[in-house]
Amino acid sequence: MEFSNPLSIGDFYYLRKFSGAMKNPRTKFNDVKFIEGGENYLCHYLANNVGPVDETRRKFIKGLVIGIGAIAAASVLDAARGLQVPLAGTSAFQKMLLVDSTGAAVKGSSVPVNNPIIVLYEYPLTDEINFLFNLGDTSNNPVTLSSSTVTVPQDGHTYTFPGGVGPKQSIVSYSAICQHLGCKPPNIHFYPPAYMKTGMPFPAFLPQDAITAAQSANVPGVIHCDCHGSTYDPYHGASVLTGPTQRPLPFTVLEWDSSTDQLYATGSVGVPVYGHTNTLTGGTGLSGTSTTAANSVNPFP
Ligand code: FES
Repeated sequence: MEFSNPLSIGDFYYLRKFSGAMKNPRTKFNDVKFIEGGENYLCHYLANNVGPVDETRRKFIKGLVIGIGAIAAASVLDAARGLQVPLAGTSAFQKMLLVDSTGAAVKGSSVPVNNPIIVLYEYPLTDEINFLFNLGDTSNNPVTLSSSTVTVPQDGHTYTFPGGVGPKQSIVSYSAICQHLGCKPPNIHFYPPAYMKTGMPFPAFLPQDAITAAQSANVPGVIHCDCHGSTYDPYHGASVLTGPTQRPLPFTVLEWDSSTDQLYATGSVGVPVYGHTNTLTGGTGLSGTSTTAANSVNPFP
């Protein structure tokens, strides 16, 4: 969400309380009712679950309507898309070279460690975006990512995260579409160790429970979704650290060619990409033999 004016302290805490209410199953925010009722629904919801809506709060709420409206609409449309008859998709995962915006191959040794800028590429279907990370420790030294077991809280089943690739085995990739309701960057993104703090504005709003969960998991950074607060552990297969998501982010398999330093996307592991019953169907397959990993935005102030 973006606001044209800085938030007051009062609005900030009001927003935090609102975020908590949205995550609470007993006071769940209804995206569909919001789209139907707009500001009326929001005011009613806030008055009942967050606090009084007086005149001084009106301007703030108008900004909220714009921000939440975009998020909610995207969520509902993504959910609806998942219900449509699947398009052809693609028959198998292709091996695709990662290139930069100039068309040059992305080199594993050149991927910035703990990059705060969101880097995205499409794979295996058009419009299905993935993060590219080179994960580091608190000193920004690359962290060797070993294989680990990922549990899917939704049904308890497990699968193996194969670990990182590249010169330091620190490079990984995940679907950039939140498994809760399909929010996309910049609402969901990586928080490098230097940005693991509260008090930043959206889309860099990190709640304390995400930081506490990261500390319990002994990891220096997280992927967090501002929409409703889901948090994922990028150092261990994007496993779930905090809900409401019940599914980890799908792991996009990368291959690193040590002789050329080039990176390839070759597959996907874990649950299907959000909005799909099968990661390969429900969209349009990419054409060609390469996909562009481009800088998106820097979500941090
Ligand atoms: S879409 Fe709800 S937490 Fe991400």
